[in-house]
Amino acid sequence: MRLKARPLVLSAAVFTMAISAATGQSTSPKVAERQQDMKAMAGAAKIIDAMFKGTSPYDSRAFKAAAESIRVHSGNKLSALFGAPVVAEGTKASASIEADRPTFDRLAAELAAYAAALSIAADRNPDVLSPGMRMPGGDAMMGGPLAKRKAAAPDPMKMPAEHAFHMMLQTCTSCHAKFRVKGE
Ligand code: HEC
Repeated sequence: MRLKARPLVLSAAVFTMAISAATGQSTSPKVAERQQDMKAMAGAAKIIDAMFKGTSPYDSRAFKAAAESIRVHSGNKLSALFGAPVVAEGTKASASIEADRPTFDRLAAELAAYAAALSIAADRNPDVLSPGMRMPGGDAMMGGPLAKRKAAAPDPMKMPAEHAFHMMLQTCTSCHAKFRVKGE
């Protein structure tokens, strides 16, 4: 009897997987929402990046809209979408989020702070991407002061927008390195 039961369980699992693959509904609504939010933030970051690189013309309204998109998807909103239980079907979120909630929440809040600084920079620079929005020293900044940024948390509102943008991208990367399971 026990020998017979096992293949049954197995085929049920295979059947469920087949259904999930067919309907694309292997992820829970919460997981789908947070992945959608992340994708929206990635799209917004690309828009801002293109304006700093000069591959897109500067448009303060589009810049601000992108910054606001990241701002509203970060902070508490982001943290709430990773509430327990974090691990669910279709997620790449690491179980370590639950074990180190303060760090996760801090990174989510930092993201919001950088996005808010970018949003305000757009208000202050309605017409052109001003030199004041640029990072002084350009590339030199990246290897220099940023390399030892452990010392004190810099105030996003007091740094040039481009610097805040780079710090923001580092926040994305830090959180993924710590709290996203690698795959694919
Ligand atoms: C506080 C932590 C945290 C921050 C900050 C963060 N992410 Fe994520 N991100 C995650 C986690 C965790 C996942 C995995 C989510 C899942 O699969 O449930 C993820 C997934 C993603 C994905 C994959 C979504 C998918 O379709 O599966 C993209 C793209 C992404 N993040 C982009 C970004 C960008 C861009 C930023 C910064 C603007 C950012 N993230 C900031 C934690 C974070």
